[in-house]
Amino acid sequence: MQDEIRNIRNQGLGQIIAVNSKEELEELRIYYLGRSGLLAKFTKNISKAPPNERKQVGVMINETKQALEDALGNKLQEFGNTQEEWADLTVPGIPPVYGSLHLLTQAINEISEIFEHIGFTRKRYPEVEWDWYAFESLNFPKEHPARDNWETFWIDAKPSEKYGPMLLTPHTSNGQVREMLRKQKPPIRMINISKTYRRQSDASHYPMFHQFEGLVVDKGITLSNLKGTIEYLVHQYFGEDRTVRLRPHNFPFTEPSFEIDISCDICKGKGCKVCKEGWLELAGAGMVHPNVLRAGNIDPSEYSGFAFGAGVERFLMMKPGLKIPDLRLLYSTDLRYLKQF
Ligand code: PHE
Repeated sequence: MQDEIRNIRNQGLGQIIAVNSKEELEELRIYYLGRSGLLAKFTKNISKAPPNERKQVGVMINETKQALEDALGNKLQEFGNTQEEWADLTVPGIPPVYGSLHLLTQAINEISEIFEHIGFTRKRYPEVEWDWYAFESLNFPKEHPARDNWETFWIDAKPSEKYGPMLLTPHTSNGQVREMLRKQKPPIRMINISKTYRRQSDASHYPMFHQFEGLVVDKGITLSNLKGTIEYLVHQYFGEDRTVRLRPHNFPFTEPSFEIDISCDICKGKGCKVCKEGWLELAGAGMVHPNVLRAGNIDPSEYSGFAFGAGVERFLMMKPGLKIPDLRLLYSTDLRYLKQF
């Protein structure tokens, strides 16, 4: 039986190569591979082969089928496809998959646009930064304990003689003095949005996150300008029905300093399970410290300014209707989650 199959294979391959038309090719296909073709007969008769040969016969039949099919396919290509081709133009197409901007990109765009309307210029300052811009120029003396609050990632690189050690910026305030030095002369109206890094990780903190920093420096800037700007931001982003309050705080680079709270969306400021006392923490802010203006070559007797900094992810998590249970979902690549937005 094995010899016979081998012969069939050689004969078939020879015939296929020699064929001159598609019709003849089709006849050969039926003769060898058709439902009652030669090979089908051998398959039916496997049981008649001696028991110790059956397995081998089966393998040979399959290999022969494969070899003939390949040869037929190749030959068919030689003839080209002369069959009349047609397409049914009424068959509905496959809709393309639409992508969308990531939730964070949407928030960054929204925040930038809100500030664009009141004349702020969007900036982006380095994530890999020197100590001087992130701390020293912002009135943090060396070794000052307040630095500990900024859980900084230090970079193992040669420190700069002028700017000190290298780090991953823990806040966007590193852009304050950079912007003053770039602009050289007020007025300054900057919104700096960038990645920031801190040694932290839980449901509402991630080692990498985004902040946006506002800085305004000009003649006669007062606390009312700060409050008005924050109220405008909150009304635009969260809605007209939200109110803000300033709570005294302490930052080395602002004096006076505040934390800004926003009224809770659920209880509207009355106090509930989520917010406890009716307010949620939103941002840090204050009037730019004279030492910071000096570091930026600006004369504090002539100019004053305000600054604020807030987390983009925090803004997102607090947006009504967007229930984000765990910040880490934002950074996952889980499309089932991300596609909702
Ligand atoms: N940089 C501060 C923080 O990360 C926020 C802040 C910015 C406070 C500007 C005051 C002024 O917490």
